[in-house]
Order: sequence, then structure tokens, then C-alpha cells
Amino acid sequence: QPTHSSVEDNMKEAVHMLDLLPPDQRKGFLRLFGQFVQQRQKPALEWARLEPPPREAMVQATDIPPCPKDQALRHELLDKMVILKLNGGLGTSMGCTWPKSAIEVRNDLSFLDLTVRQVEYLNSMYGVGESPPRRRSYDTWDNRFARPKKRVSFSKDDSFRETDPLSNVPLVLLDSFKTHETTAKIIRKYRMHNLTIHTFMQSCHPRIIKDTLQPMPSGPFGESPPSEWYPPGHGDVYYSLYASGLLENLINQGKEYIFISNVDNLGATVDLDMLYHIFDQEAEFAVEAIERTRADLTGGLVVGYGGKPKVVELSTVPTERRDQFVKKFNLFNTNNIWANLRALQRLVAKEEMSLEVNVRERQVSGLKTIQLETCGASAIQCFDKVMAIVVNRARYLPVKSTSDLFLVQSNLYGVRHGSLVMSAERPDGSTPLIKLGREFTSVEDYLRRIPHGVPTITQLDHLTVAGDVMFGENVTLKGTVIIVANEGSVIMIPDGTVLRDSVVTGNLRI
Ligand code: UTP
Repeated sequence: QPTHSSVEDNMKEAVHMLDLLPPDQRKGFLRLFGQFVQQRQKPALEWARLEPPPREAMVQATDIPPCPKDQALRHELLDKMVILKLNGGLGTSMGCTWPKSAIEVRNDLSFLDLTVRQVEYLNSMYGVGESPPRRRSYDTWDNRFARPKKRVSFSKDDSFRETDPLSNVPLVLLDSFKTHETTAKIIRKYRMHNLTIHTFMQSCHPRIIKDTLQPMPSGPFGESPPSEWYPPGHGDVYYSLYASGLLENLINQGKEYIFISNVDNLGATVDLDMLYHIFDQEAEFAVEAIERTRADLTGGLVVGYGGKPKVVELSTVPTERRDQFVKKFNLFNTNNIWANLRALQRLVAKEEMSLEVNVRERQVSGLKTIQLETCGASAIQCFDKVMAIVVNRARYLPVKSTSDLFLVQSNLYGVRHGSLVMSAERPDGSTPLIKLGREFTSVEDYLRRIPHGVPTITQLDHLTVAGDVMFGENVTLKGTVIIVANEGSVIMIPDGTVLRDSVVTGNLRI
């Protein structure tokens, strides 16, 4: 049995010999690998020590006092604010080969378009960034592909204005090497908007062969990373933001807080009451959590450990403990994160941002590989003054599958200033449970099967669709609806159909 230092040394040597990674990336990769090796010897958690999150760290959003109605104060608060969207994912589980943020949600508007609307609205609402429209400068903080830092500008004079006094809340996008190119093309269209956008790149790591614990063979890093490499999860945001130089730049501009969320979560808007409370309490870090329901299958739960809150990913809980774990803990991480920039800088600089490693197994090019990832919200364990804020589900509208996409594209929601607002026809605010079968898994297939848009579902409780099913125009679904096309048969739901508490099976080709 090799010792853990010999396993680590072998990896260090392999990375060095193969000249696999640029130095800052190498350090990050070896840090994760070191933690993984340690976790193999001794699990990161002693399950018996898990407890409810400490009371003093828990905040109910409904108990948060309103932000004073003082425009100058609100302006000042927002002036210190940065919005960051996690845009490193492709939405592989929906068969996407392009950034998930580019999926069109409403009236040809993508997640990214809607996000831009949200931020512009925030700026205009509070008079932040009331400068006359002009071409803004866009910059790429690229800590990977170019050294010294390459700054790309689309401003009129084509020069990056480093001293540009950012008079508004900037939008920062964390890209990965999988999403960067397409995102860069997409954001050009916002150049006439009165909005500042920064992009920066997260790390990319080689996969590891499961049996040998050596890096998967591939060419050296070169101009860009080999295609079978991967971005190591959204927990990477902190080190990458620091390494890119953008963190320091934002601090130098007087920015103090950052609001981080998944780009596909259109419910994650800046809540001024929450922002004021976090400032007022001088919290260093806050995570928003919701009561978990049966729809929340993958993600993390907020627990207590050693007197501090901690986020534990469900995928890391051993199968035999899973039932007991979800019975005991039900606060689900939304990945809406608030962090103080200086505290963040301090922790990263001291290498004290130590996050548990989640191990994902993948079959790649015929090899059993593992990839090591970390989760952004798990940073809560590293900061001193932290909060877990229990929020309404309206702040968490994730799109991880086409069943989720079906919901956000439906008339259950209207769009106001880029945010999704639940229809007044759904007064209890609940969301139906949608289960679309594997024929709907990829975005492409899903769109082909609902060519006229999502049926009306404001009175729907539960929908299960399995097999080869196509929807016509103006279909309405109410109550519990189950549609199952048997093997080899097709069900076409005709235009104008209303299904209430129905089970449709067999072969209904019309
Ligand atoms: P998830 O981990 O839920 O993954 O990301 P995903 O992108 O939705 O989907 P799959 O796993 O590829 O199917 C939550 C958020 O974190 C971002 C994603 O873009 C999404 O906004 N993310 C994820 C990153 O920015 N970097 C990563 O390495 C992973």
C-alpha cells in the first residue's frame, strides 16, 4: 500500500515531468490532489459530529429588517457591490455543448441576456451608473492563456481604461475554458449597454486515472487545455478570482461585497434588505438556503460541525447514511453566496480557503477517471462571521435538466426586468413536480417535442412523461397528468387539448 506522501510525490513528479500545467494552476491542482489523498486515508467528516447549524448563524430572511429608504445610503451600498455569475458549466446533463447561459429561456432571451437586464435594472433603479449611455469597456482577466495579462477591450478607442471609475454595479462572469470563447462572442452585443462586464477564467485540471492515480495522458497545456480536461467545480471561483488579479482590482475600486450565484438561477437577484443586513452585521460570508423538497436531488445541505455551519454535498454522503442524513437536515444550499472581498482575499492569500474535495467518476476515452471538484458554498466553513439565510424558494430556480427548463419556460412565470415572477394564477407559489423521460433529456430533443412552446401549467401539480411523446399547440395540463407512450409507439397530444388528472397511455398518433 503506497503511503499518501508517495502517492502525492508521484503526482507532483508526473505533473512536473509532463510540464502539464502553468505554475499557478499546478499549485491548485496539487492542492486538490493532496486533499483527495488525505480524504482517502481519513474521511473529511466524522458523521457522528454533524449537528444542526448553530443558531447564532441562522437568519430567516423574513426577519431581516428592511433597508432604510434613504436613496444616498442605497446608492452607497450598491456602489460597493459586485455581481458574479458562475458561468463555467456547459449543462452537460442537458446535452449542451455550448454554455448553459446561452440557452434561450424567454422571447429569444437567454440566461445571460436576462441577467444583463437584471443588473441594468438594478443600476437604473437606484441611480447607480446614471452616466449617459456610451460604449463600456469589457475586459477579460485571463490568468491562463496569456501572460502578462491580456485585456480585451471593445471600447470605442479600443483601449482598456484601467482607471475607469465604475459608476455602476459591475457584472463579473466566471468562465471556464469550455465556455469562454462563446461567452466572449455573446457579450459583444451588450457593448452599447450601460453596464460594465468583466470576465475571467477558472482553472482547468487534467483528469486522473482511477487505478494508477496518475494524470490522464494528454499533450502539454499549449495554447489551450486538452479537450478532455475539466473545470474543477464552482468552489474554484475564489482562487481564480484572486489569481486573475480582478479581485485586487475590484477592491482597489472600493468594492466590498460580492454576490455570487449560478448563471441559470434567475431567482438570484440582489436583495437590498439582505445586502444591508450583511453590511450592518459585518458578516464575512453568507449562504442562502431553502427548505429542501423531494425535487432537490443533487446539491448540498447546510449542517453544523464543530459549532460552525458547513455545507455537505449529498453526493459525498455514503449511501447507507443518506436516508438518515436527509431526515435530519433539510436546509438546501441555493449557491446564492454573499462574501466580503477583503476577507476572501485574506483567506486565499494565506491559503486558508480549504474546501472539501468532491470526487466524480467519469469514463473518458475508455479510461476510468476521477475528477476532483469543490463547491462554492462550502467556503462558509473558512470565514469568521458567517450567516445561513433561509430564503423563499423564489430565490432558487435552478435549471439542471430539461424538466427544470420546462418550468422556467412555462407561463407559470412572467419576466419582469429580467427576473422570473410567479404568475398570479398560482397564488400558493408552489411549483409542479415535472418528470420528463429520457426522450426529452437533451435540449435539442426537448425543443423538438414541444415545437409550439411549453403547455399551460398554472394549475398543474404533477406531470410525468415517458416515451415518444410530442406536444401540439395550446395544450393545457391540470392536476396530475401522466403520459406514457409504450415501446415502439408515439403519442401526439393534439392542438388545444386540455388534460386534467389524466393518464394517457398507448399509441395515440393523430
Ligand atoms: P452545476 O454544478 O449545477 O453544473 O453548476 P451545471 O453546469 O448546472 O450542469 P452539468 O453538471 O454540466 O450538467 C452550478 C453553476 O456553477 C457553474 C455552472 O455554470 C452553474 O452556473 N459552474 C459549475 C462553474 O462555473 N464552474 C464549474 O466548474 C462548475
